[in-house]
Amino acid sequence: MNGSEPSEIPEFDIVPEQVDYAADVSDVLHAANGYPPHAGRRVRHREFAAGRVSRFPEGQFAALRRQRGRDRVVGVAITMRTDRSPMADPLPWHEVVGDYGLPHHEPTGRWLYGVEIAVHPSYQRRGVGSALYRARLALVEELGLEGWYAGGMLMGYYRHAHRLSPRAYAERVIDGTLDDPTVTMQMHRGLRPAGIIEDYYPEKKAGNCAVLLIWRPDAAPARSRAGVRRRQTARADAARRMRETA
Ligand SMILES: CC(C)(COP(=O)(O)OP(=O)(O)OC[C@H]1O[C@@H](n2cnc3c(N)ncnc32)[C@H](O)[C@@H]1OP(=O)(O)O)[C@@H](O)C(=O)NCCC(=O)NCCS
Repeated sequence: MNGSEPSEIPEFDIVPEQVDYAADVSDVLHAANGYPPHAGRRVRHREFAAGRVSRFPEGQFAALRRQRGRDRVVGVAITMRTDRSPMADPLPWHEVVGDYGLPHHEPTGRWLYGVEIAVHPSYQRRGVGSALYRARLALVEELGLEGWYAGGMLMGYYRHAHRLSPRAYAERVIDGTLDDPTVTMQMHRGLRPAGIIEDYYPEKKAGNCAVLLIWRPDAAPARSRAGVRRRQTARADAARRMRETA
């Protein structure tokens, strides 16, 4: 699959993940979440990669960019199958997933679960994450599954932590009053918010909090970037009018 669209930079491909990418994948996960590369973690991550690639190869995607004669991983999306419905009480990430080796993957599970997605900060906002989502959602249809779901981490919460609880921030992101760098991007890709999961994953930046996001094959297609921009402009205009009349 080629990650390019007319308005995107045609510089990467979405391919099945291979175990040999593990060190790069580990670095991408660390960098995307704001941590430096970690040699020990790279070694451990190779074990995880071997586990998930052997359990569910179709569900693992890497975004590759050819750089200085070698393919460099710039993004990754990890998924598993589960029979647990998104309508059931949400569980913390570790209970659903186990670990990055996906020991809880259910080969005949009716739902695709978003375990992780990350794009190296140097390559963000170029359509890599969107291409990874397209690959994931296409897999739902290829496998004839009920749909896709996950907890979308509220990675911008820390900027508002002095004045809002994680739940209050989540509510504002869901209703569009605030933009979150991760969850708003996910909502713009057509993933529908269906609840708030407190204590989903221990990530201070996100107040440990996530939004339950669901996508079904019969859902409306993801909004176009132009449509998103139009809505953002309309929202900014409305806010400006409110300030002027206040
Ligand atoms: C969330 C994440 C995966 C998104 O990846 P990404 O590659 O930046 O995603 P995209 O580039 O496809 O889209 C991001 C935005 O850039 C815009 N964009 C894409 N290509 C663009 C381009 N060429 N020029 C300008 N903007 C562009 C997209 O339209 C989108 O904005 P929108 O939501 O307002 O439509 C990435 O930010 C990340 O790794 N974050 C940290 C880890 C994380 O939060 N993981 C998820 C845990 S649940």
